Amino acid sequence: MILLRENYPIRHLNTFGFDVKARYFFSYTKRSELLQIILASKYTGMNRLILGAGSNVLFTGDFNGLVIHPGIKGIQVIYEDADCVHVKAGGGENWDEFVRWTVDNNFSGIENLSLIPGTVGAAPVQNIGAYGMEVSNSIISTEVFDIDRKTRSITDNSECGFGYRESVFKSELKNRCIIESVIFRLEKKHRFVISYGNIKEELKNFPQVDLQTIRQSVINIRNSKLPDPVKLPNAGSFFKNPVVTVEFAKSLKMKYENLPVYPSTPGYVKLAAGWLIEQCGWKGKRTGHCGVHKNQALILVNYGGANGKDLLQLADKIMDSVFDTFGVRLEMEVNVI
Ligand code: EPU
Repeated sequence: MILLRENYPIRHLNTFGFDVKARYFFSYTKRSELLQIILASKYTGMNRLILGAGSNVLFTGDFNGLVIHPGIKGIQVIYEDADCVHVKAGGGENWDEFVRWTVDNNFSGIENLSLIPGTVGAAPVQNIGAYGMEVSNSIISTEVFDIDRKTRSITDNSECGFGYRESVFKSELKNRCIIESVIFRLEKKHRFVISYGNIKEELKNFPQVDLQTIRQSVINIRNSKLPDPVKLPNAGSFFKNPVVTVEFAKSLKMKYENLPVYPSTPGYVKLAAGWLIEQCGWKGKRTGHCGVHKNQALILVNYGGANGKDLLQLADKIMDSVFDTFGVRLEMEVNVI
């Protein structure tokens, strides 16, 4: 079904809950409907934004252009053998409902990514990851519609430019390619990933380790640490964990022996932005209508009444103080519009 509106409020489509409007807003559930709009000359050359559930965006004001909200649904097993299945899921499916479907069907590969807000189509854009899993490891390909070329094509995993919270859909192809569906490879022979953080500890509350109990453990951990955007508007991690050289991390570690350090690509390591921000005294701090969450310093929250500019001001102050203290420049994970 096509929905086309002018000056459309999109408060419900950004988890920071900002009261902003889209000059033009278009949502659709069938592939043919997209083409009708794209071919309409009125929209040619207009600023555009592809918006899923808005769980990783920060609007600094109204959007003066065309917002496209893809809504193609459907989950389908398209291949199966003794070891695995290939599953095609529509980009408009809710991410966590899809994870639940995989766990209910006893397919492993994305169970640690339970409860991450957003849509299936948005998952590859920032290569969502949590508790030792990244979605890119389970993606075979994506089916995309290129708005500039008005063509559909398949982008194989190797062409998606996946990295830590990175992909071509976030860089070269930003707001040009709509991910209409994603094809996943999921395992019938399970490979559990339970060494990260306190998953093992949480699993002790259950009689056995299986996909359902891993999913429930992740949900319990997330619920205990991360604020629910419905109750306290936020966009998950506001910053990326910074990647620095091994030498630089060693020099920091001499001064700060508790500094958490995680493996990255050869020659580099990842630091924990939440730890750096907490050390600078920001955890739980509130400035005006926004602040830093009390349980996880990587998450900035809107207590109600804040706008995008307030959040950016707070983010700038945090980035400056982390740089002054540790010499590390934080990078934002949220998409600033
Ligand atoms: N830490 C602190 N203080 C804090 C937060 C964290 O000292 O306020 C320390 C923790 O004690 C731990 C380390 O920092 O030693 C890492 O913390 P945690 O395991 O909570 O994860 P994270 O690195 O802060 C990343 C992802 C999250 C994901 C978790 C769990 C990024 C930017 N964030 O956070 O993803 O849920 O790992 O795997 O990579 C998201 O991207 O929106 C998101 C929530």
